[in-house]
Amino acid sequence: MEKPSFRGKVVLVLGASGGIGAALVRRLLAADAQVIAAARSPERLAMLEREAGVSARLLTRPIDVRDCQQVVDLLSWVWERTGRIDLAIYCAGIEYLGPLKAISRAELEEMMATNFYGLFFLLQQLLPLMEQQQEKGTIVSVSSPMARLAFPWASAYAASKAAGDALLTGLRREYRRSGVRLLTIYPGPTATGAGQQLSPERLPRWHEHGTKMEAGRCAELLLRAVAAGQRQRVLAGSLRLLFLLERWLPSLSERICASMPLGEALT
Ligand SMILES: NC(=O)c1ccc[n+]([C@@H]2O[C@H](COP(=O)([O-])OP(=O)(O)OC[C@H]3O[C@@H](n4cnc5c(N)ncnc54)[C@H](OP(=O)(O)O)[C@@H]3O)[C@@H](O)[C@H]2O)c1
Repeated sequence: MEKPSFRGKVVLVLGASGGIGAALVRRLLAADAQVIAAARSPERLAMLEREAGVSARLLTRPIDVRDCQQVVDLLSWVWERTGRIDLAIYCAGIEYLGPLKAISRAELEEMMATNFYGLFFLLQQLLPLMEQQQEKGTIVSVSSPMARLAFPWASAYAASKAAGDALLTGLRREYRRSGVRLLTIYPGPTATGAGQQLSPERLPRWHEHGTKMEAGRCAELLLRAVAAGQRQRVLAGSLRLLFLLERWLPSLSERICASMPLGEALT
């Protein structure tokens, strides 16, 4: 299959310091895009810069997406340098899993702030800017299958991702005549740092179960879906099937999702 062309496009990746986001940055640089990589860790952003060498096509900027002012400042900083953003990918995310009693208020707030508020701040600030551009841009939310399937022990994380899905769907309808494209992409299980901050007894067995996609492969499929312009895309075949069941045979999907294996210690 032909590779999608991002040559010369200005692409902003939020949540770019590791996992899927960093893999997206590498793919986009290889495809000759001008990339702005943003995340909290200056050290990990500096590593990306070192990897890219002296490339003038990579700019990095530390940002905490939970702070609206930092999102505003990031966008003005980018605008001063590039005058447009062709594609913005919201990949910042955090997951806290475990049984209901294990999810603390601080964890819940961090998930809502990172997975939902940050996306809201980006959309609220960037949509009016993209509308002014001659060539309208695309905004992508990297969601999770959990937003639609909500396996056991992932319900709070699922809720924070589902909030982002609903926001994007509503705005896609509100902005349907604007020319700006809003896409939601669902990666399958991918080998990244997601969930690594949790103690082992907080990780359900379904989380580690089975094969995980390489982050580079996930980034490649994600960019293909962006180039195809599909408003929603599930990247893993097995989950596509489960999405279909959830829609057309919900009682079977309920049985499958409910039977996902849990851990032992906290039940
Ligand atoms: N891995 C999977 O199996 C999987 C499956 C479905 C969906 N997803 C989704 O894919 C996205 C990327 O996840 P990943 O698996 O690549 O996880 P990851 O390796 O943990 O990467 C998460 C990224 O988000 C950034 N981030 C976290 N909090 C942030 C904040 N407050 N401000 C700015 N950046 C922040 C992190 O950088 P800093 O810590 O430097 O800020 C990091 O670059 C997430 O939205 C996740 O929900 C992942």
